Amino acid sequence: MSNLPSKIEKEISALQEELTRHNYHYHVLDDPLISDAEYDRKMARLLELETAYPHLSTPDSPTKRVGAPPLEIFENAPHTTPMLGLDNAFSDSDLEAFHLRTAKFLKCNPEGDDILYTVEPKLDGVAVELTYEDGLLTRATTRGDGFIGEVITENVRTIRSVPLKLASVDVGASNILVEVEIPSFLEVRGEVIINRKDFERLNRMRLEKDESLFANPRNAAAGSLRQLDSKITASRPLSMFVYGVGIHEGCDFTSHGQMLRSFASWGMPINPLVKELIPIDEVITYYRELEKKRESLPYEIDGMVVKVDDITRQKFLGEKARSPRWAIAWKFQAVETMTVVNDIIVQVGRTGSLTPVAVLEPVNVGGVTVSRATLHNMDEIERKDVRVGDTVVVIRAGDVIPKVVKVIDANRTGNEKRFVMPKNCPVCGSTVHRVADEAAIKCINASCRAQLKERIKHFVSKAAFDVDGLGKKLVEQLVDREIIHSFADLYTLDQVTLAAMERMGKKSAANIIAALEKSKTIPLKRFIYALGIDHTGESAALLLSQHYPTLDLIMDATREEMETIDGIGPKTAGAVHDFFKHSDNQVLIEQLIANGIAVQSVEKNSADRGHSQSQFSDNGDGHGEKGQGRQDGQDGETIRGKKFVLTGTLSQMTRSEAKEKLIEAGAKVTGSVSSKTDYLVAGEAAGSKLTKAESLGVKVINEEELLDMIGAW
Ligand code: IVH
Repeated sequence: MSNLPSKIEKEISALQEELTRHNYHYHVLDDPLISDAEYDRKMARLLELETAYPHLSTPDSPTKRVGAPPLEIFENAPHTTPMLGLDNAFSDSDLEAFHLRTAKFLKCNPEGDDILYTVEPKLDGVAVELTYEDGLLTRATTRGDGFIGEVITENVRTIRSVPLKLASVDVGASNILVEVEIPSFLEVRGEVIINRKDFERLNRMRLEKDESLFANPRNAAAGSLRQLDSKITASRPLSMFVYGVGIHEGCDFTSHGQMLRSFASWGMPINPLVKELIPIDEVITYYRELEKKRESLPYEIDGMVVKVDDITRQKFLGEKARSPRWAIAWKFQAVETMTVVNDIIVQVGRTGSLTPVAVLEPVNVGGVTVSRATLHNMDEIERKDVRVGDTVVVIRAGDVIPKVVKVIDANRTGNEKRFVMPKNCPVCGSTVHRVADEAAIKCINASCRAQLKERIKHFVSKAAFDVDGLGKKLVEQLVDREIIHSFADLYTLDQVTLAAMERMGKKSAANIIAALEKSKTIPLKRFIYALGIDHTGESAALLLSQHYPTLDLIMDATREEMETIDGIGPKTAGAVHDFFKHSDNQVLIEQLIANGIAVQSVEKNSADRGHSQSQFSDNGDGHGEKGQGRQDGQDGETIRGKKFVLTGTLSQMTRSEAKEKLIEAGAKVTGSVSSKTDYLVAGEAAGSKLTKAESLGVKVINEEELLDMIGAW
């Protein structure tokens, strides 16, 4: 009759081919040939035809990217060859160790270019395996536990950069799709990602619709792939890069680079930052380059994957249980990571403050495994609404203690448990008290064992009595075994007792006894600091010793008198006064002196320099504080003596914590800005102080810069 069907057939097949090509140009090559409107018009026509003639619609038709009927569940999919993970390197030396191991295994010369690597960005997305049979995408699976994943074929079909059908493309001048040399069976592995901009747009849309937000692009990609309804996945801006292979038939690869180029020639998306065949020193140079580029890339990467290029060598090196020997992921310093709060416990500090601490599922943040993060106090927990079982974002900046930044609401299951501050000290059981005007909850039992441990650790620390070798674990044992009950008891310890402690021997015990002996003569300021009086850090102790050259004078000083000292506020004055008026503390000091402690008085007219009969080299050179504890080095000098004003809300610590840290480092922290102010630290919503500082030309720094200064101590 009529030749209509064949005409339609031709039109359908031409449109399919054309749209596939445009799709490839747009999503893989990032180089569109036609306008979006024209593409949409052609797609609408194809859809119209395929709807009218469903038998002419093929599984690889571009219309198949819009999603299929929803699934009930995801089917399990055992991987024929396990999808391995990668070992991590966090430093140049880790990388070097990997290279040396590899060279040794391959009996190669580690120098020069005997071993060549192909390196790729480590994409921060979701690993997926694609199966192509005779060039057609027949299955896609998640990595799962590496051995068994889930079938997500319909979802992956919606990802525009994933070819539904492999077709040889001329990778150079590429608008011809010719079908040659397509493998009969091919498992390709890669990473599904979402570009930063698309992620932001997605979250903006979700915000408008009052839907929960994704924490980051990786989460959004994972959530999008986990949809039983692939139409939802189709609406998400997913893309993919491929970087690995599973089972393959009808093709052979000699090198990793050649394999990637083959993938590209079949229309698959390969990351443009892959660098082929480079020796180890260039690997290092390229890592630095990539690290610099990191922030400007359209997608998130969290490191660089280094792979031995030669596939014969890869096979020879083989695999360990969960990772290959021929590759390593060299991670960038993580700024923030997500993990789960397994528990919230309470720690009792030196001054009796109860601090809630999140016990985290161990996670690597910037090369360090983090398993705890302080939650500061109950106000902070309530403000962030952190609960046991929550997924949280954790940061580590410089040397600052890991911190929980926020909770990922989208990961809430409803089984999370709220934390309640205990009514009793978890260590000694006595009732706890909330300090007026402060967020702190305190155990006020002075003989609480937890406090005692912390006080003794402080007492023997470098900037205090500096008892070399008397570490934290040993202090804890001595307190737990009730061998010491106060600072004074430290000086009654004998070698036999110490040698009987865990991980101690005769020699280390003798060293500690010698260190204790040596510590007995101590400058006044260090003695005051060692006592661990509230609000009395190194700087306050120094100021006090400058004004009261002997211990007796400090012990007799009145609150009002102390308050007249520039840099000593009412809190410190009150705390020092109360401390010395307490009869227990007077007894303690008598005992210390009876046990041989000699507190050196400060010589007149060299008040802030040395102490009489100083035997400490760091006290006779005009740099009284130098060489002690965290104030080592030159950077400490940038803070010491400088006048700071803090304003606005800080995000990583409270203003009073910042103040304490600055004062401990020898800075002065005042309440108002004047021309004498050296730095104004401006947090969020800084107001009139900022305006004043700017008008006076005072240097304004932000929290990050402050952290840098603190980190440099
Ligand atoms: S190769 C046997 N290359 O990192 C080698 N993995 O920690 C297997 N990843 O599960 C992986 N970018 O999800 C490889 N260029 C890349 C990668 C990459 C990201 C992910 C992948 C894998 C994880 C391993």
